[in-house]
Amino acid sequence: MPTVSLALGDHSYDVHVSNGALDSVGFFSTRARLEGKAALITDTNVYPQYGERVKRSLEDADYAVSVHVVDAGEKSKSLTTVSRVVEEMVRAGHDRTSFVVAPGGGVVGDLAGFIASTYYRGIPYVQIPTSVMAQVDSSVGGKTAVNVPSGKNLIGSFHQPRFVVADPITLLSLPERVLREGMAEMVKHAAIRRPKMLVPLRQLADELPIGFSLSSIERLPSVIAENIEIKARIVEEDERETSGTRAFLNFGHTLGHGVEASVPYGDLLHGEVVSLGIRAALFLSRKLAGLPARDEAEIIQTLAALQLPLQLPSKVNPKTVLEHVMTDKKFRGGRIHFVLLKRLGEPVLSDAVTTDDLKEALAFISTPLQEQETHSLSHSTTKR
Ligand code: GLY
Repeated sequence: MPTVSLALGDHSYDVHVSNGALDSVGFFSTRARLEGKAALITDTNVYPQYGERVKRSLEDADYAVSVHVVDAGEKSKSLTTVSRVVEEMVRAGHDRTSFVVAPGGGVVGDLAGFIASTYYRGIPYVQIPTSVMAQVDSSVGGKTAVNVPSGKNLIGSFHQPRFVVADPITLLSLPERVLREGMAEMVKHAAIRRPKMLVPLRQLADELPIGFSLSSIERLPSVIAENIEIKARIVEEDERETSGTRAFLNFGHTLGHGVEASVPYGDLLHGEVVSLGIRAALFLSRKLAGLPARDEAEIIQTLAALQLPLQLPSKVNPKTVLEHVMTDKKFRGGRIHFVLLKRLGEPVLSDAVTTDDLKEALAFISTPLQEQETHSLSHSTTKR
C-alpha cells in the first residue's frame, strides 16, 4: 500500500492510499492511538455510499460512533452548519477525548476539519477524501475553513489530520465530469513540480470516456500517491504558507476563483475554473516570466485531453471576474500575488501582474485556443 508521510514535527502523519482502504479506517485509528468516541461527519451523497462501511470499520475496532450528515454542497460550509453539528456532537456525548472522522469531498473535509479544530478547543480528526480534488489536494495539509457571506474560506484554521485514508475505488462512482475536473489539480501539480506526470495524465485522460479500465484502476493508487507526495513536500516546506512555497499551489486559482464567484454555484466545477485560470496564468507567464511556448502548449494539451474548459463561457462577464479577483485575499495594496511559471516545474510568486495584465488575460481566455498555444503540440506529446 503506498503510504505518503508528512514530517511536520509533533503533528506528523501518514496518508494511506490503496484500493479498498476504507475498510481499514478503524485499524488505522487504533494504530494512531485514537481513543474515545468517533464523530463521523459526512454528507448526503457520501453517507449512503460509504458512510456505513467506515462506521462498521470503526465499530469493528471497538469505537462508539455517532453520525452527523450535512447536505451535500458548498452551502454546508457555513457557521450555521458548524453550530448545528456541534450541538449534535454535544448531545451525542462527545468531549475532548473524541475524534472526528470525515468521509467526503472538499466541503466535508474543510467543514469537519474546522469543527475538529475548534470543538473543545481542538480534537483530532481523520480525513477520508472521496473525490479526486480532495484526495490529491484538500485533504492533505491541514487547511480547514468555512465560508461567510462576504467570501469563501474567510474563517478557518490550520489543523493537521491525525491520518488520511484515500481509497481510489471511491472515485469510480463519481460522475465523469467530476472525475475530469478533479484532474485539473493533478495538471497543476505537474506544472509546478513534476512535468513528467503530464504524459501519464494524458494517457489516463484517453481512458476516461469509457470509464477507468482495470489497468487504470490498478495504476490509480500510484498516480494519486504521486500527487499527494508533491503536495506533502510543499506542505513540509511551508506548512503555514509563510515563505511563499505553499502559495505555488494557487497556480491557476486566482483568476479561477474569480470565475467561480461570477457564475451561479454549480455552473462550473472547481477544476473547470482552475483549467480556465491555468490558461490565463500561462498567458501571463509567457508575457511576464518568459515561459516557452512549448511548455505552455504541453499543459494546454493535457487540459484539452481531459476535456476541461479552456475558453471563458460567453455568459461570464470578464468585468465581474475582475471585480471578484480584486477583492480576493491575495490582492493586497493594489497588487495581486500571482503564481507564474518560468518554465515547466519552475513557478515564481510575482507581484508584477497589474490590473491591465489581468484584463488582457481575461480577454485572451475569452477567445478560442490560439496558434501560439498549440503550435508545438505535436512535438510535445512524446518526450519529457
Ligand atoms: N489547496 C492549497 C493548499 O492547500 O495550500
